[in-house]
Amino acid sequence: MATVFEETAINGMVMSNRIIRSATWEGMCEQDGRPTEKLINCYRELAQGGIGLIITGYTFVLPEGKGLPGKMGIHTDAFAADYENLTSSVHHAGGAIAIQLVHAGGQTNSTSAGRQPLAPSAVQVDQFSEMPAELTKDEISDTISAFAEGARRAKAWGFDGLQLHGAHGFLINQFLSPLTNRRTDEYGGSIENRSRFLLEVYRKVRDTVGARYPVFIKLNAADNLDGGLEIDDAVFAAKKLTELGIDAIEVSAGTPASGEIGPAREKILKPEKEAYNLPLAQRIKEEVNCPVMVVGGFRSYEVAERTIKDDGMDYIAMARPLIREPGLANRWLQGDRSPATCISCNSCFMPGLEEGGIYCVIEKKEREKAAKG
Ligand SMILES: Cc1cc2nc3c(=O)[nH]c(=O)nc-3n(C[C@H](O)[C@H](O)[C@H](O)COP(=O)(O)O)c2cc1C
Ligand code: SF4
Repeated sequence: MATVFEETAINGMVMSNRIIRSATWEGMCEQDGRPTEKLINCYRELAQGGIGLIITGYTFVLPEGKGLPGKMGIHTDAFAADYENLTSSVHHAGGAIAIQLVHAGGQTNSTSAGRQPLAPSAVQVDQFSEMPAELTKDEISDTISAFAEGARRAKAWGFDGLQLHGAHGFLINQFLSPLTNRRTDEYGGSIENRSRFLLEVYRKVRDTVGARYPVFIKLNAADNLDGGLEIDDAVFAAKKLTELGIDAIEVSAGTPASGEIGPAREKILKPEKEAYNLPLAQRIKEEVNCPVMVVGGFRSYEVAERTIKDDGMDYIAMARPLIREPGLANRWLQGDRSPATCISCNSCFMPGLEEGGIYCVIEKKEREKAAKG
């Protein structure tokens, strides 16, 4: 029977346990996407904290695919030395690290993207104030090549694997979703057509990195929006990806427009609120033959253990608890199994936007209060 703290491997990548750091934008890069020493320290701390695998914050493959400030970029060979330093720091600390590759699609603005945002169709999405331009066929082809170039660099620079970001309303998700994909050519319409972009990205990435390199996807199993991507279409995409040899699928759901049922839900304060994407992940797991990871609201060891032992998941992934406690995996391993101290308030986004990097605002306030006595 699978247990949380056992070593596993996916396509040659060894992980010391089944707890994964889900991709988390840190906002710690230079504005051109170059990693900084601060970001490298953040990953080193996570590796020292015993996490089985670190998945980096989303990393843009083209400048026009940039979203939030301080985001990592892998669109140029000029960052080779910085990334090699980053991956070797993690390896030196005993960790494994995969990079998440993204194009923000219509979920950005012209300040970040340096031009009018690009999307499958000219459909403006809630929470983003600009109307995107519809990608031409040539631009689609260039974008697919940019994912492959990002993959080539990631492998060459020492990442142990990569993850395509196919969730949370970004470009790959926008192609899958009937709400944002209104195209009438071979990239729109039926789910066969809406998944064409994703499958072309996957094929080109796989051709570039070869069969013996871990390639994952973080996939929205549902957008949690009226008219958005639904589970049956997500299952179609997941099955196609496994037929083509994807190594693992991390299941998430929701977009920034999904309100209370978005990707990072608030007030996860009792076990019943945890693991909120598990039913969707179980549905995907029934239909595919690769390992499945589930993210969303894991806070207590008991729920993590049950999810792996009894609920059929191969890995559980966490984001916010590890912002507050990068050493959570080791804490649980060493016997302190009290729940994560994160209260799921989402206040950590703000310092990423305004102070050059995310941190747990609640912890800082508590420390300041304690110092005052
Ligand atoms: C500050 C912050 C940054 C995030 N950045 C990313 C990202 O870059 N890529 C991604 O796929 N998800 C991102 N997410 C979503 C998380 O990976 C995760 O899916 C979500 O927070 C739910 O997991 P949790 O309850 O463990 O936090 C981010 C979440 C937060 C709070
Ligand atoms: S600010 Fe702290 S407590 Fe709130 S969600 Fe972020 S890590 Fe958790």
